[in-house]
Formats: sequence, C-alpha cells, structure tokens
Amino acid sequence: MTSLFSLSLALLSLSFLTTAVAASEFTFHEATIESIHLAFAQNRLTSRQLVDFYLDRIQTLNPSLRCVLEVNPNALAQADEADRLRAAAAGGNGTLGDLHGIPVLLKDSIGTDDKMNTTAGSYALLGARVPRDAFVVERLRSAGAVILGKASMSERYSLRSPQMPRGWCARGGQGVNPYVKSVNPCGSSTGSAIAVAANMVTVSLGTETDSSIICPADHNSVVGFKPTVGLTSRAGVMLISPSQDSIGPMSRTVSDAVHVLDAIVGFDPRDEATEEAAKFIPMGSYKQFLREDGLNGKRLGIVRHPFSDYKGSTAASIFDQHLMTFGSKGATLVDNLEIENIDIILKPSRNGEMTVLRAQFKHYINEYLGGLSNSPVKSLAEVIAFNSNNPDLEKMEKYNQDGLIAAQMTSILDDDVVKAQHRMTKLSEEGFEKLMKENELDAMVTLGSNAATIPAFGGYPVLTVPAGYDDNGMPFGICFGGLKGSEAKLIEIAYSFELATRMRKPPLSFSTEFHYPYYEQSYGTM
Ligand SMILES: *[C@@H]1O[C@H](CO)[C@@H](O)[C@H](O)[C@H]1NC(C)=O
Ligand SMILES: *[C@@H]1O[C@H](CO)[C@@H](O)[C@H](O)[C@H]1NC(C)=O
Repeated sequence: MTSLFSLSLALLSLSFLTTAVAASEFTFHEATIESIHLAFAQNRLTSRQLVDFYLDRIQTLNPSLRCVLEVNPNALAQADEADRLRAAAAGGNGTLGDLHGIPVLLKDSIGTDDKMNTTAGSYALLGARVPRDAFVVERLRSAGAVILGKASMSERYSLRSPQMPRGWCARGGQGVNPYVKSVNPCGSSTGSAIAVAANMVTVSLGTETDSSIICPADHNSVVGFKPTVGLTSRAGVMLISPSQDSIGPMSRTVSDAVHVLDAIVGFDPRDEATEEAAKFIPMGSYKQFLREDGLNGKRLGIVRHPFSDYKGSTAASIFDQHLMTFGSKGATLVDNLEIENIDIILKPSRNGEMTVLRAQFKHYINEYLGGLSNSPVKSLAEVIAFNSNNPDLEKMEKYNQDGLIAAQMTSILDDDVVKAQHRMTKLSEEGFEKLMKENELDAMVTLGSNAATIPAFGGYPVLTVPAGYDDNGMPFGICFGGLKGSEAKLIEIAYSFELATRMRKPPLSFSTEFHYPYYEQSYGTM
C-alpha cells in the first residue's frame, strides 16, 4: 500500500504541472454542469480538457479507490466531437443538448452498445454484446453527454452472496470510501458515488431497488436521486424488480442531478411503467424547480425513530440544526412522526423483501441474458455454473454464491413470493403512504440513508443531499422521501436546503485516512 501511495503522489505532481498550464482559469475540482457550460461558452475549457482531467484522476486514484471498471476507449473522440459541434453551434446553429460535452459515468449494469462491457461486476458477462444502448444511455447521448466509463458496483446488486460486503465485485475488488477508508462505501451503486465524490467525473448514473443510490450517496457525500419508478426507463438495464427499480443521477449538487434527470426521464415503449409515470413529467423541465425559496410553505414530516441516533450525537445534533434551517426558510415541521410497523419494514428477515427480490431477479436476469449475443452465459443457471467453473476469477474462496443459488430455486409464481409481495404493499400503504397523506406532507425527512427502504417498497421517489460529517470525518446525508411524482417538490426542498447549508466538502481536504496534502490545494483550483 505504501509504495502504491508514493507512486500515486509522484504521478499527481506530474499531472498537476501539465494540466495547470493547459487550463488557466477553470476550476476542475467540484466543477458543476453550469460552471462547465459557462467555461465552454467563454472558451476557457474544452470537453477534451475535461475528459483528460478525469481520465488522469481515474488513472491516479482508481488503484486505491476501486470505483471504475472500464474507461470508454471512445471518450476522447466523443469529447472532440462535442467540441467540434460546439464550434459549429457558435457559427449559428445553436441547438446543443443540455449535457453537451459533459462526462458521465454509468453503473456497470447499464447496457451500452459500444466497446465497453456491461457485467454487473462479474466476469461471466465479459465480451457479451447488448442488443442496443439502454434507453437512458440513448437519452444521455442525444443530450450530448460523453460516456466516460463503467462504474464498479456490488456484484449483481449484492445478490450473489449474503457474505459479500457492499461495494465488492470480482472484477473491481472492494470499492473504498474516499472519506474514511475503513468504513464501507455502501452499495450497490458504489463506484458511481465514489467517482463523483472524488472528482473523477462530473456526474454518474446509479440504479436503485432499495437504497442502492441513496446509501452510497449518503456514505460518500454526494447527492443521490432515485426517481419515482417508471419516470426513467429500465430498458437495457439489468433489472431486479419492475415495481422497485429506478435509474437515477448521482452528483455533487442538486442542480447537476436535475440536469441529468431532465435528460433521462420519459416514455419508452420498451418499459411499460414509463407510460403511467409519464404524466408526472412537468411541462418545461425540472430545472424550473431549482428555487432558492423552495422550502417556503412546505410541510415536512420528521421521522426520528430509529434513524436519528444511529450515527451518534454529532450527526444527530447537526440534523437538529438543519431542522431549524428548514423552519427559518418557511417550512412547517411536523416532528416525531412514527411509521407504522417500522421495525418490520426495516428487518429483511421479516418484511418479505428478499423473498420477492430473489424471485424477480431470477426472472428478469434470465430475460436479460436471453437477449444478449456472444454471451458466455444465457441464464442464471449458467452464471452459477460459470462461477463454479471459474473459482479463481470469481474469487469463490472469498465469497460464495449462495444468494444466486437461492434465487435459482425460486419462481415469481410461488405462493410465498406472491404473499410476500402483498405484505410489502400493505406495509407501504399503512406505513409511508398513510404517514404522508394523514399529515399532508410534502416530504418525509430522515437522517442518514436507512429510511430509504420505506419509500422503496412502493416505488416512491427519494433524494439525499450531503448534510455533514461525524467526528471521524464520515459523511452523512439528509434524506427526503415523497409520494409518486413528487419530484418537483423534492427538488425545491433539496435545492433550497443545499443553498442554505452547503455541507459537501471534497474528500481529500480533511480526511485523516488519505494524505494528499500538496494535491488538494494545488490541483483543485486553477
Ligand atoms: C443544427 O444541428 C442539428 C443537431 O446537430 C442538426 O440536426 C441540424 O441539421 C443543424 N442545422 C443546421 C442549419 O446546420
Ligand atoms: C471488454 O471485455 C473484453 C474481454 O472480453 C476486453 O478485451 C475489452 O478490453 C473490454 N472493454 C473495455 C473497454 O475495457
């Protein structure tokens, strides 16, 4: 580890010297989509310089943070093309997409029909070809985004094995929290969170069934947004659950998340849930809800039990300060609300969720694998056989595949699966829905990410914003959950909160675990 670190430091000083000369004014560190667009417009930055910067960061930091599985061999070419189109646009054709020239990293379960692999972290799918780009990737491309690469994740959304820690996959190893190395970065959208946190990309996409965007965002001090199920198409993405899965942005600011959300939402004939959810998409764009006074007049329900004490007193007292900020910005707080059956909802052994998800996973992974060409594996049974036959590659001595084997024995038609599904629906109706409606809430507000499970059962939207750091420098977020289609309100609340508090700090400036003293001050601003 030590030699690796000194090598990284040497590389860092080198790349600092070259990059500093190339771009004089633009601040790469913590760059936002708006700051990038401004720099593009003022000819202070090109998309190529931006991609160069991130590729450099990835090369330097990825050996220690393990958050990127592949970089796109076409990323620089895409950046050049974006720069060329921008020059043409300046000559009169002014129709550039909202993400024009902006680098985006994708979770490794989001299919791309290009030179990259889509593997959900496992070796079994290396070399397989997807039939087409995932719908969200098509949307990103048509908004002008540069696809920078594939982010690491918990292998097969953690479903491979109950032994496996979050953020581990055979291809990438263990993802590392850039704030406190010894604390798990959470998952399953692990690399998507770490890379954004450590300024290795502008924004990323994650996916969430239950907590998989919100938890890693919370643990790595970034914004994570799980939209209402159906707002973003799952077509071309490895699916677990049609009723719970959602694709969403991860970013350093609420505004960046909203830029990405605008680009990826919409009706897609290949995902029928998008038809019903399309009614939630506002005229214009979600950017109109980036309002500084967005907290004014909102009713916020505070659920403390059992969330407010889980990280100790520092986080809880910072949370209380945030509640006062809400009040001072014109929100009404309905405090100390309780969710019915909260202890059952939060307990995997009692809520029925694992029974449902394993069966759905089996069904939809078989469907997904069946649609691939050139794939070494065509079904879950063949994935299991692949792992058994390639124990070294898949590091089977380290973690078993008991989760996959359990999934293989299920069927979505099984009685206990259907019953468990009803149970989850009932828990959601009598818990979250009732809480929101009886108290006429615009959002449920909780400390940390553990509450993300509550809206997850019903496919509701959740948004987390960096809210502070505990005594060890460990980040935590504040989590807003809303009823279906309430993205506009969640954006107003989160944006207004973020402007009032500005809690996020980049990881390397204060961490006691990583020492890049020279690095932070010099590379960051130029
Ligand atoms: C302007 O750009 C768009 C998108 O690149 C293109 O389809 C269109 O043909 C261009 N129009 C002109 C007048 O060049
Ligand atoms: C995708 O996987 C193949 C191995 O099958 C590898 O040769 C190729 O380099 C990978 N693509 C990228 C972009 O890393």
